[in-house]
Amino acid sequence: MQLRRKLVVGNWKMNGSLAQLAELGPIADAAREAGGVDVGICPPFTLIAAAVTRSGGVAIGAQDCHQAASGAHTGCVSAAMLKEAGAKIAIVGHSERRADQGETDALVRAKAEAALAAGLITIVCVGESESQREAGGHVRVVTDMLAGSMPDDWEEGELVVAYEPVWAIGTGKVATPADVIEMHAALRAALVARFGDRGGRIRILYGGSVKADNAAETFRCPEVDGGLVGGASLTAAQFVPIVEAAAGG
Ligand code: 13P
Repeated sequence: MQLRRKLVVGNWKMNGSLAQLAELGPIADAAREAGGVDVGICPPFTLIAAAVTRSGGVAIGAQDCHQAASGAHTGCVSAAMLKEAGAKIAIVGHSERRADQGETDALVRAKAEAALAAGLITIVCVGESESQREAGGHVRVVTDMLAGSMPDDWEEGELVVAYEPVWAIGTGKVATPADVIEMHAALRAALVARFGDRGGRIRILYGGSVKADNAAETFRCPEVDGGLVGGASLTAAQFVPIVEAAAGG
């Protein structure tokens, strides 16, 4: 048996509509047929409840949550609210939120703790910028980010890491297998150093321009347990081959 079951999650970002939820049907069918892979879709907050009714077994998730359980936080959504809406997953610490909303490692960790407390599968994102990679300190940057963003307490299977190099997001520049292998090995070593055997069972996803034509090669890399997919998760036509690649790898 595999140590870690593959997981492929689509992050719709600020895209999608009620009409676009029709994509979920064929995605769910493909996931069922492929077997052996967990599949999730994270649409914008406003679509979560409707997506749950049409999910066909695909796990629906959110792209963020607030760190507090409730209170005077205008415009924010708590993890418990997401859970009540039917979400099973929360992404926290995406680089777009770190950049656009100034989220720090400490805040990402607090959000991850809130999401875990609500019983959501929590995907903690880390990744370096192009300039950090060019300066050669990318492994240290990303492992430091991981150290600051990961909570201490979690149940088996609930915590997931996503390595998303910022320079590969939405650019069509996918990291090479050598880049992916280097970083995923470093992340695995850091997880095992901190959590022991349990750290060996945390899934580590790759994200950044994952498409049908590069997914299989990326998912075959050691310590890659699936993908976090942006643009290519918006339609079943593009996302299904990625799910199939994960199932086959
Ligand atoms: P793209 O797949 O569009 O590069 O986005 C990746 C991402 O940011 C997923 O969270």
